[in-house]
Amino acid sequence: MDATHVDDDLVHILFTEAQIQDRLGEMAKEIAADYEGKDLLLVGILRGAVMVMADLSRAMPRHVEMDWMAISSYGSGTKSSGVVRLLKDLDTDITDRNVLIVDEIVDTGLTLSWLVNSLGSRRAASVEIATLLRKPEALTMPVEPKYVGWDIPNEFVVGYGLDYREKYRNLRDIGTLAPHVYS
Ligand code: PRP
Repeated sequence: MDATHVDDDLVHILFTEAQIQDRLGEMAKEIAADYEGKDLLLVGILRGAVMVMADLSRAMPRHVEMDWMAISSYGSGTKSSGVVRLLKDLDTDITDRNVLIVDEIVDTGLTLSWLVNSLGSRRAASVEIATLLRKPEALTMPVEPKYVGWDIPNEFVVGYGLDYREKYRNLRDIGTLAPHVYS
């Protein structure tokens, strides 16, 4: 669905579907150049990263492997709960592998700082992060993604995998949620 299907739920659209695809194409080229001659395992973080993983991986001009983890750091509302729970682990042994974590947003950094520490202890050759969005003002944990689509203000955004109470993930664009939806 697109913004016309969610009435006045969005204050404004931050990134259109076309802008997202263009930016992911640029990131894919950069990643492919950096990992030239090396194996590459993309690790998507369920559920929000499904869209980014699907489009970033298909924009890559090379073979990649994919695996998934599920980690929860949000409650059902708009703020991080401060608690990380591992809901699904990797199926892949990452010893000596080049791991690139793929996520749609770094907010407080809680999820990814925990994840980088966790995967770092499994003797991977490298562990890096690619995220479509980052909120620098919200960051409270030391997370340094190697690839960032855009830095955004500290607003509640939905669409392209990002949800509010499990809705809006299938919105093609990314937009700022209107306060009347969650207040
Ligand atoms: C989102 C997102 C990141 C995390 C970022 O996942 O996918 O993994 O929150 O927040 P943080 O930087 O404050 O830790 P979420 O827990 O909402 O699950 P979801 O992907 O299923 O929506």
